[in-house]
Amino acid sequence: MAREHEGAVDLGRVDEIVARHKGREGALLPVLREVQDAVGYLPQEALERVALGLGLSLSQVYGVATFYSLLYTKPKGKYTVRVCESAPCHVQGAQEVIDTLVRELGISFGETTPDGLFTLEKVSCLGVCGVAPAVMIGDRVYGNLTPETVVAVLQEYR
Ligand code: FES
Repeated sequence: MAREHEGAVDLGRVDEIVARHKGREGALLPVLREVQDAVGYLPQEALERVALGLGLSLSQVYGVATFYSLLYTKPKGKYTVRVCESAPCHVQGAQEVIDTLVRELGISFGETTPDGLFTLEKVSCLGVCGVAPAVMIGDRVYGNLTPETVVAVLQEYR
C-alpha cells in the first residue's frame, strides 16, 4: 500500500528549519522535532543536512535521532497506536492489553508493521484515567479495554 511519507524529501524545508535555529544552544533537538513534523520522519538525507547545517557530525545527529523514542528514522505507520503505561492504567490491567497488542501487531515499541498501517508507541497518561486501561489509535481514545476488546478495536483499522 502507498505510504504517506515516502518520496523525495524537501531539503529546502530542512535548510529553512536549520537556519531558524542555527547558533542557538541546544538547537539539535528542536530542529529534529520540526523536521520530523515537516517530513513525517527523519530520513538519512535530512539528518545529513541537519548535521551540515549545524556543524555537527552525522553520528552526533544520528545519536540524538535514535535516542528519543518520539523521533523516528524510519517512516511511521498510517496509525500510531499509543499505549498508556502509567500506574492507573497499569493497575487496571494495561499489561495484558499491551501484551495482546504486541502479539497481534507482531512488532515491538517504536516499530511499524510491515504493511505500513501501525506504529506502536508507549506514552504516559492519556488523560482518561477514569476509563483505564486506555489506548489511543490515531486521534481516537479507547478506554476500559480488555485483551478481547483491543483486538476488536484493531480490526476496525485493518
Ligand atoms: S494513566 Fe492511563 S490514561 Fe491516565
